[in-house]
Amino acid sequence: MRKLDKTLVLVGMMGAGKTSVGRRLANALGVAFRDADTEIELAAGCTINEIFERFGEPEFRAGERKVIARLLGEPPHVLATGGGAFMDPETRARIKEGAISIWLKAPLDLLFERVMRKDTRPLLRNTDSRTALERLLREREPVYAQADITIESDEGPQDAVVKRILAALEALRVKEHPEAQP
Ligand code: S3P
Repeated sequence: MRKLDKTLVLVGMMGAGKTSVGRRLANALGVAFRDADTEIELAAGCTINEIFERFGEPEFRAGERKVIARLLGEPPHVLATGGGAFMDPETRARIKEGAISIWLKAPLDLLFERVMRKDTRPLLRNTDSRTALERLLREREPVYAQADITIESDEGPQDAVVKRILAALEALRVKEHPEAQP
């Protein structure tokens, strides 16, 4: 496998599979995997639900911005971000500048089925989760679409998603460096 020269940042909705696909992708490339939400929890010493409860969403977003900026300064790796991270203009600009963004695109039904398996998403708690998820999806899709690469994340095996990402990365490399040998 070719050496990774930029961090690969997975963006997209909750339930799109960013963490599990990211882990597999990192494995396939032989690089480190980081999960921004996990790093935020480590830095805060509590869970994302607790951060939202105690300090509110703006505080969470400020921490998220800071943690992602730090992770983007690490050597090239695979970075899974929380669903709202790419919506932040500052974070988006940082990702655009120094990394390759990959949108894991999935349909509402699949996202909903996946997010319902856990109760770790504060934005979907104590509310009509499906309506909330649908609204977020509608608001966010045009922004996710600004990612460098879009990959469909479906019900099939996640290794197939990884394969599609690897093929898209190769196509991007050839497009950007047509002079390079295969
Ligand atoms: C959020 C998504 C979550 C987490 C937080 C907010 C969002 O991450 O960052 O609950 O705004 O969509 P996942 O996308 O990994 O679930």
